[in-house]
Amino acid sequence: MIDDTRAGLTRRAVLETGAATGFFLVTGLPASSQPQPAAAVPPAAPAAIETVPLTLRINNRDFTVDLDPRTTLLDTFRNSLGLTGSKKGCDHGQCGACTVLVNGRRINSCLTLAVMHEGDEITTIEGLATEDELHPMQAAFIAKDGFQCGYCTPGQICSAVGMLQEAATGWPSHVSEDIAAETFGLTDAEIRERMSGNICRCAAYANIVAAIRDVSEEA
Ligand code: FES
Ligand code: FES
Repeated sequence: MIDDTRAGLTRRAVLETGAATGFFLVTGLPASSQPQPAAAVPPAAPAAIETVPLTLRINNRDFTVDLDPRTTLLDTFRNSLGLTGSKKGCDHGQCGACTVLVNGRRINSCLTLAVMHEGDEITTIEGLATEDELHPMQAAFIAKDGFQCGYCTPGQICSAVGMLQEAATGWPSHVSEDIAAETFGLTDAEIRERMSGNICRCAAYANIVAAIRDVSEEA
């Protein structure tokens, strides 16, 4: 067994001397110049979140909530109002699962703040059917099997409803042959292009297009 205290030399002394020598070789400074770690600063207490009162008109009902003004419309539906039909897929505008209608136009509810929508008419998937009857687009998705897991479906249906209105009122798409036309017949290519913001990970696209085509032909 090695006696570390030989000649008054302890293991700690050897290690400290080695470290000081290494520091000198690397920096050319005496060990006493080595920067000392800053004293730990206790984390600041989080600032209290100021909420704002807000009334939102959703599915023909007024909802009043107190919200952190940074809350998205999607999180407001899901976390504050119990409207969980709109889904969160990506939370940054890439999948379309959160699509709802605001004043008849489709938007990604994950990309907009709730405080921006006081006074707007908002329709979520929960507001499309009447008490007695499904919306024709909902019925067509069922008839054509336009879903598998169903996660994207509320967004697909809201998006399709908004899209039919856009085509009927003369909004061209990237595949429209005559962008000056007043209305657009919805070919499969038009439907696919206009619905390209709604991703389906189950790839139920053929049946989604069939459902939308049925509704557009009836319209
Ligand atoms: S959750 Fe909004 S676009 Fe994906
Ligand atoms: S049905 Fe599963 S993601 Fe579209």
